[in-house]
Amino acid sequence: MTGNRRSVTAVYPGSFDPITNGHLDLIERGSRLFDWLIVAILENAAKEPLFSVEERMEMLREVTRPFPNVSIDSFHGLLVDFMKERNAQVILRGIRAISDYEYELQMALMNNRLWPGVETVFLMSSEAYSFVSSRLIKQVFELGGDVSGLVPPIVEARLKNRVRGGA
Ligand code: PNS
Repeated sequence: MTGNRRSVTAVYPGSFDPITNGHLDLIERGSRLFDWLIVAILENAAKEPLFSVEERMEMLREVTRPFPNVSIDSFHGLLVDFMKERNAQVILRGIRAISDYEYELQMALMNNRLWPGVETVFLMSSEAYSFVSSRLIKQVFELGGDVSGLVPPIVEARLKNRVRGGA
């Protein structure tokens, strides 16, 4: 690679309600691929999240501390507008199964239509986390199931406080 290569900033957008080990795996891999990686939480009033944006940011900050080129942010409105503000060129997303593909393709094409300069880079989820989603984590935890190993310990502790009242 030449010395004057342009630095690349990627944004990994999502709800992260809460962050799972699948997300964390993607963040770690993304941090090795890009010069800077911004994990961006969508502030979506329409969805009723389990954790507030601030709580999700706290958990994300904690678990991404080992990665110095990763920062945590939040956004509302269009992702591409946020990216322009942050001087980011690449969207990072994960694909777990073929069922993710259609939604991801639609978003990638729409984002490219809104801002032709943007590229979406997809990473395949690691096999160990290919079945993990925030939605299922919440459901399994609420029903008393064991989610250890699927979310970072700080998330498990917060889930205990939130869902089982610290029991
Ligand atoms: O974790 P999620 O819910 O799959 O993430 C979805 C997200 C945040 C990537 C997507 O909803 C998004 O980018 N929303 C911002 C609004 C936007 O830019 N829409 C147009 C492009 S699809």
